[in-house]
Amino acid sequence: MPTAPLPPGPQGHFITGNLVAFSEDPLGFLTRCAREYGDVVRLGKTNYLLAHPELIEKVLVNGEGHFVKIAAHEARKRSQGGFPEAMMNSEGEDWLRKRRFVQPAFHRKYVNACGQKVISLTEHLLDSWRPGQPRDVYVDMSELSLDIVSRFLFNTPVNDEARHVAAAVDAIMRLTGSPFRFPMWLPTPTNVRLRRSLARLDTVLAGIVRRYRERPGEPQDMLGILLSAEQPLSEEQLRDELATMIMSGHETTADALAWTYYLLSRHPDTQARLVAELDEVLDGRPPSPEDIPRLRYTEAVVKESLRLYSPAWITSREALRDCELGGFHVPAGTTLGVSQWVTHRDPRYYEEPEAFRPERWLSETIKQLPKYAWFPFGGGPRLCIGASLAMLELVLITACVARRFRLELAPGCEVTSRPALALQPVGVRILPHPRPVRGGVSSSRQERA
Ligand code: HEM
Repeated sequence: MPTAPLPPGPQGHFITGNLVAFSEDPLGFLTRCAREYGDVVRLGKTNYLLAHPELIEKVLVNGEGHFVKIAAHEARKRSQGGFPEAMMNSEGEDWLRKRRFVQPAFHRKYVNACGQKVISLTEHLLDSWRPGQPRDVYVDMSELSLDIVSRFLFNTPVNDEARHVAAAVDAIMRLTGSPFRFPMWLPTPTNVRLRRSLARLDTVLAGIVRRYRERPGEPQDMLGILLSAEQPLSEEQLRDELATMIMSGHETTADALAWTYYLLSRHPDTQARLVAELDEVLDGRPPSPEDIPRLRYTEAVVKESLRLYSPAWITSREALRDCELGGFHVPAGTTLGVSQWVTHRDPRYYEEPEAFRPERWLSETIKQLPKYAWFPFGGGPRLCIGASLAMLELVLITACVARRFRLELAPGCEVTSRPALALQPVGVRILPHPRPVRGGVSSSRQERA
């Protein structure tokens, strides 16, 4: 018999529970639940939301082994078109073996070595921005981050094939973002699109692997590591690992960058302070990876953007056995949701939580923040494997953009968020205005020459 009570939560509809309220406005619904019912909210018979950083830490760090990321029913769902062989979709011993196998590709020296590429690809993109001509920065950043991640993973640009990869990612995100899913064998329009996209993705990835095999590259990049496995990986394993790495590595980064430029365009004062730092540190030249430790305000801008619009807006674990959290009973089989969106905007941890204030990351008080009050990359053993690469990209790309352009939101554009697998910004159109660059060095063409 449980000794602790069940947590409070909204009653919802007698048949559909809280499903409709959640799918209509997931961000608003979860926030209201946490503010109204507290740190543990019962959203349904088998669904809880945890809002307190200590509870989030307990579940993600999982010291007692009570929780799993991929429960059996979730694994079944993923096997329907969701890359089931990938490390990120694995659990237990199988996950640990795969994670140890791919981890060396994310060693700091390879991440740092990628920095110069990040800068030259960004400068190349910025060369195509015309004064005052609106840019869909989400599209720009998607293409850029896709190019970066594919060079990082297998040392190949996928520019020509990027459309196919991006289409597959989009189709999968639409399918998995929907609370209603039909079995894969049903020819619904989404399933048909998904199957086509997956087939195209297979062809593109097979081409990349073939070319890579013909031209053996650095064994330390992801593909080199995967191909050097003692027990050769099956085609499916190879595809699933590459596809999920590309997906998780490019979509989230593109979202974070587009949200950052949206926020900067709405805060001219922040832009001015950012440029002051760039002028001081860079003195007119483009950034280099060695500048990162001195770009403290730039990093604060990125962290604040990740606080307000964390691309990972929710994740979950499942309780394997009965346990207690925050004084409430958790039956085995309960899904425990933790939401960056909810906790990152909690007024107990952030003064004026809705305000964009990068300065807060430079203040002394931020050191008092509970560890899991900011967790855009998750935490515990399943911490994002690409977190260092992502931070390096976000800081360097933001420095490149802000050094060359003042960003203004295009008149009349209405920006909304689409909480799918990641939190996508919709409708961010930016007018770039070239800045007079200190020292007269303004074009990357000169720098690359
Ligand atoms: C701003 C960019 C990014 C954000 C916000 C982000 C966020 C996250 C989060 C929150 C998790 C953990 C999910 C959970 O615990 O349920 C995760 C896992 C993961 N991320 Fe990222 N990520 C980013 C960039 C990247 C990059 C650049 C890569 C690779 C190139 C990557 C690859 C992965 C992988 C493979 C996992 C699964 C790790 C595991 O299950 O052990 N991510 N990411």
